[in-house]
Amino acid sequence: MPRILVTENIAGKAMDELRAGGDVAFEPELWRDPAALAEALREAEAVIVRNQTRVTAELIAGAPKLKIVARAGAGLDNIDTAAASEAGIVVSFAPSENSLSVAELALGLMISLARKISAADRDTRAGGWKRAVFTGGELSGKTLGVVGIGRIGTLVARRARAFGMRIVAHDEFVDPEAPHLRELGARLVTLDELVAESDFITTHVPLTEETRHLFGAKFFAAMKPGAFFVNTSRGEVVDEAALAAALESGHLGGAALDVREVEPPAADSPLGRFDNVILTPHIAAFTDEAQERVVAAVCRDAVSVLRGEPAAGFFNFPEPRGRG
Ligand code: MLT
Repeated sequence: MPRILVTENIAGKAMDELRAGGDVAFEPELWRDPAALAEALREAEAVIVRNQTRVTAELIAGAPKLKIVARAGAGLDNIDTAAASEAGIVVSFAPSENSLSVAELALGLMISLARKISAADRDTRAGGWKRAVFTGGELSGKTLGVVGIGRIGTLVARRARAFGMRIVAHDEFVDPEAPHLRELGARLVTLDELVAESDFITTHVPLTEETRHLFGAKFFAAMKPGAFFVNTSRGEVVDEAALAAALESGHLGGAALDVREVEPPAADSPLGRFDNVILTPHIAAFTDEAQERVVAAVCRDAVSVLRGEPAAGFFNFPEPRGRG
């Protein structure tokens, strides 16, 4: 029985090497079937997941041999980390390995919104040549509001500065005197101040009970007329119905969402109707470079823990503690 279970399509050089070692059950579709997942976890000592496998307290309770849950990515919202810690299981993840790719996509989406690139592309392919319709605006001289100025938010802000943008940021966990804010020339403000000042808003918050639907009707109504909203963090932080209503009213300049309240979203989701909306399928972290880094980090941690060595990218503790 292989000791390492992989429950999603997680690929890369490090995964190839791990699989070649023969101690891996590679089951990329297993996340879709909770009963089969529970069955497979009964024997597993390490499980490697991405964001679609829900590692619940119940699953953990039914996995007596499990020593490590390794999450190939940054977000831990699909893992019951409290239950894992309680059971003495290491939770490891790759919190910074894909940050740059996410930041670059956020910037790409901002430029695409400002210059209407997606809509212009669609129209031109359909035979149009509407130069007067697809006029846009520059990023330079505009204010970018960064909600969550941690690793990814900082990378976005740094790049936005190179485009000549001013930065305001909101983050409950950052000291207003933090050196990275000084380097960015960024002011730390309340969310109300940020929404009132920003021409573009980009969000980089984790999904928690506090951030669920943080961006709803009140928030969108408070945005400047014509301002743009970009989400590459977690879909559930946005109330999509409220966003659709704000777009319908013409109040917003546009929005770009890489992540959705429900993934994959319904094919007839109202957001798909708007020409000034860009939708991508949760690909922010999906570059060759980021995936190689992420997969290498989690494969290394799974192997380390099974060898009795500490995990480097641990979230809770580096070595299993035995059942609590
Ligand atoms: C992450 O949390 O790292 C990204 O959203 C990518 C993913 O979930 O796979």
